[in-house]
Amino acid sequence: MIDRIVDAKADDTDVAQEVELEVTLRPRDFASYTGQERLKENLKLAIEAAQKRGEPLDHILLHGPPGLGKTTMASVIAHEMGAQIRITSGPAIERAGDLASLLTNLQDGDILFIDEIHRLNRTVEEVLYSAMEDFKLDIMLGKGPSARSLRLDLPKFTIIGATTRTGALAAPLRDRFGMINRLEFYKPNEIQQIIERAAQILKVKIDKPAAAELATRARLTPRIANRLLKRVRDYADVNGDGIIDTVLTHKALKLLDIDELGLDTSDRMLLAAIIENYKGGPVGVETLAAITAEERSTIEDFYEPYLMQIGLLERTPRGRKVTHKTYAHLGKQQPASGTSEQPALL
Ligand SMILES: Nc1ncnc2c1ncn2[C@@H]1O[C@H](COP(=O)(O)OP(=O)(O)OP(=O)(O)O)[C@@H](O)[C@H]1O
Ligand SMILES: [Mg+2]
Repeated sequence: MIDRIVDAKADDTDVAQEVELEVTLRPRDFASYTGQERLKENLKLAIEAAQKRGEPLDHILLHGPPGLGKTTMASVIAHEMGAQIRITSGPAIERAGDLASLLTNLQDGDILFIDEIHRLNRTVEEVLYSAMEDFKLDIMLGKGPSARSLRLDLPKFTIIGATTRTGALAAPLRDRFGMINRLEFYKPNEIQQIIERAAQILKVKIDKPAAAELATRARLTPRIANRLLKRVRDYADVNGDGIIDTVLTHKALKLLDIDELGLDTSDRMLLAAIIENYKGGPVGVETLAAITAEERSTIEDFYEPYLMQIGLLERTPRGRKVTHKTYAHLGKQQPASGTSEQPALL
């Protein structure tokens, strides 16, 4: 797989540094969590109502592209509820017994955050159903004819599940969440605020135009915004004179090969291949995976959401296709016939 600076996936190189940074940059409460206004309104209401009734929150599912703040939001919710949060993930819960021990160790009001909840295996998932619905744990003791089932009472907990792919979630599991929320891409001015806040925390001096410039290249994604800020800071530490301005930002981004829309070489190669080899599409996602030598899920989770958000890629029943904006962005001539779209006016 290609290592990409604009990859919205969590970085696993230099883990220690990243973790430290994540901890300091990660907003702790609603006030410091920029954007996602509708989601915050809904959650504030639910939290206030639950607190008034003295009950735990309903189970919450957060879904959306990587790096938009699902994990962060889960810890913000816990903070706002004054609740303890335990963190695990779908692949980490291998057996029903693992889930049982997690659940029986919770206390009333605790939050159990399950990241990548779409990757829970079937048996674990089935145990989770009754746990989420009735706060009961059904476990089987023994095997064969002497096996018997045991029903345990569980504390009144809240599950917060996170996934980049709701489509991959089994319907019975999805139905057990009282709130299902999609995180949206951020607005450029929100990303700018996030960059300015991060700069303050990291004691990086960046002027407003440079922060705005960086914001347009961060794929509307906080994780990428923070990462670009760090890279530009590195560049400034070596080549700058203390303050990051637009000139320096441009130079750093050029070196990283990130263009005005936040695309890197891989994105441009993908789009160019659809144009050059497939007349602009439609083309199947498997083909895109082959072109880029990436997994299909990487195309679906990481490349496509942003490219579709900014209108450079469209999903049709027959596959993916580029748009007139793509031709214009890559400086390519759009064929005059054979497409329903108007060529870009230059
Ligand atoms: N609303 C926000 N305001 C400021 N910073 C944010 C916000 N949302 C996320 N971040 C920053 O972006 C980083 C990535 O966020 P987070 O880890 O919550 O994303 P995620 O949606 O859980 O990603 P993944 O799908 O990869 O698990 C965090 O370290 C945090 O600092
Ligand atoms: Mg996460």
